[in-house]
Amino acid sequence: MKTNLLTIGLGLLLLSACNSTSKNVQTDLIADNVAFAEKQIGHQVKLIEESGKILNPRTVKNDKIQYVPIDDWTSGFFPGSMWYMYELTGNEKWKNLGTKYTEDLDSVKFLTWHHDVGFMINTSYGNAYKATKNEAYKDVMIQAAKSLATRFRPTPGVIQSWDEDRGWQGTRGWMCPVIIDNMMNLELFFEVTRFTGDSSFYKMAVSHADVTLENHFRDDYSCYHVIDYDKIKGGVRHKHTAQGYAHESAWARGQAWAIYGFAVCYRETKDPRYLELTDKIYNYLFTHKNMPEDLVPYWDFDAPNIPNEPRDASAAAIIASALYELSTFGKPEYKETADKIVASLSSPAYRALLGTNGNFLLMHSVGSIPHGHEIDVPLNYADYYFLEALLRKKEIEKP
Ligand code: GLY
Repeated sequence: MKTNLLTIGLGLLLLSACNSTSKNVQTDLIADNVAFAEKQIGHQVKLIEESGKILNPRTVKNDKIQYVPIDDWTSGFFPGSMWYMYELTGNEKWKNLGTKYTEDLDSVKFLTWHHDVGFMINTSYGNAYKATKNEAYKDVMIQAAKSLATRFRPTPGVIQSWDEDRGWQGTRGWMCPVIIDNMMNLELFFEVTRFTGDSSFYKMAVSHADVTLENHFRDDYSCYHVIDYDKIKGGVRHKHTAQGYAHESAWARGQAWAIYGFAVCYRETKDPRYLELTDKIYNYLFTHKNMPEDLVPYWDFDAPNIPNEPRDASAAAIIASALYELSTFGKPEYKETADKIVASLSSPAYRALLGTNGNFLLMHSVGSIPHGHEIDVPLNYADYYFLEALLRKKEIEKP
């Protein structure tokens, strides 16, 4: 009996030592990434500050950093990364930079010519408001939600992503194209519902999510990129792609937007249908024969030359961040998957060397292969969701 108790005691001691070692390794991984990001993004900021302008870096082309105007769909990610650096380090330097780069986007709140105003304002002003509780930021978010609401089409019940003559549709003759990415705009509507008590924003978000759930998914729970609706009569006109390999293929970042977007919808509504959908998307992704061992997907699950196809680190970062959130909704095993993705992204295979990669954190993302645009490059949104994933991981692992 005595020996047994001793054995059990020793066993428990060993187990707890193992757990704390694995926790330390995880914590070190966060600390190591944050220390790297401080320096790498520090270089990026130094270049911008030295220019005397406010510049918004998106990617690298022909070895040159590409900066974007404020109406580009990615303009919120760099300011948003400043806020994540502030949260990860507590260093006021990042707060001041976050304030400066965020406030440069003020007029985006009036943007109505595409749907991405939700993305742009929530990643910049949304994070700024969370960090500072500055009431003026709320007003910007409310105006942005009003601008986004101008794109809601009541008959099909969705927010129109692109105008008929703008976007990446070419000559396809779409009437009311809705891309799966649009799920990411809904968070702004949920936030603004809380600010204003105006339930019309909530209703538009839920309608968009429900119609997307109904039409965007295939039987295997992969999703289409573009669903074109009839905005006069309602109903689906086309099920297409713009950035994927084919209409019937599964574009990797589209699957990432889907699982992230429906995780947000579950958080905000507690509707179990949304959580069930995220489980099904998870199963699609992580049982797929073309999901690589390191869990950083190829740019499209059906790309023709796998394994000789580019990976998309941005899709991996978005999925990891979504899985950390989902792990807190009764799916603790999702954290292990997210940890594995973050470990891959933190390895030299994806994380850049200091001072290289245009001062972006991650290498190997893809913008749009069918358009020959941004192939195997760094992207500001890969970095943003990587930092978000690190922050969520840190929160979850807090003692
Ligand atoms: N929202 C555009 C993209 O994911 O490329």
